[in-house]
Amino acid sequence: MKIVIFGPPGAGKGTQAKRLETVHGLKQLSTGDMLRGEIAAKSELGQQVDAILAAGKLVSDDIMVEMIRKRITHDDCHKGFVLDGFPRTVAQAEALDDMLRSEGTQIDHVLVLTVDEQALFDRIAKRAEETGGARSDDNADVLKDRLNVYNQQTAPILPHYEKAGLVREIDGMQSIDEVSADIDKALSL
Ligand code: AP5
Ligand code: MG
Repeated sequence: MKIVIFGPPGAGKGTQAKRLETVHGLKQLSTGDMLRGEIAAKSELGQQVDAILAAGKLVSDDIMVEMIRKRITHDDCHKGFVLDGFPRTVAQAEALDDMLRSEGTQIDHVLVLTVDEQALFDRIAKRAEETGGARSDDNADVLKDRLNVYNQQTAPILPHYEKAGLVREIDGMQSIDEVSADIDKALSL
């Protein structure tokens, strides 16, 4: 099963994608985690994208599409995968469609987590406190920019998936366990 988990920053994408991996064996492919890994390793790519993540802007489509292209054919994706943080632009969504189509496959479900904006600020503030500010983009100012980017560049992907009948809306304001239960129901797992 091939899933996209979708929603604004702090909606719970990573939390739920990790659980889908642990409980159902669907590999979590988090582009944010991959980029933070590159930054931590001080690789050439990491040095290139460090300031972009810290500002809440988007890394270029070319880099992101290649990153995912290399990942989705790995053996660890044999049961399927959960794309967490990708696609984030219409161009990325189109590139994803093309790469899956060329393998004779497609996305099965797009899970959209809906969460009130105030709750997003509360969750990110809490995480910044708990992790001692481990993520450079976990503060209210950058979150505002991340939300603007989400609304302007990422949310416009949804009509494309809606037209294809793939969107499953999930109430992300519930507890983590309740969200997980609704996701399992939506996926018939
Ligand atoms: P990315 O890492 O994808 O960050 P994000 O989308 O901004 O979202 P977060 O990871 O902060 O939130 P989440 O939805 O995963 O929620 P989480 O489960 O952590 O991207 C970071 C940056 O990388 C981008 O800004 C961009 O620069 C770059 N990037 C990445 N992908 C890219 C792409 N494709 N193209 C271009 N650039 C790209 O939960 C948040 C908190 O809330 C946690 O503390 C959690 O414990 C808590 N929580 C979760 N669920 C609940 C709940 N139900 N109730 C209460 N608390 C909850
Ligand atoms: Mg995340």
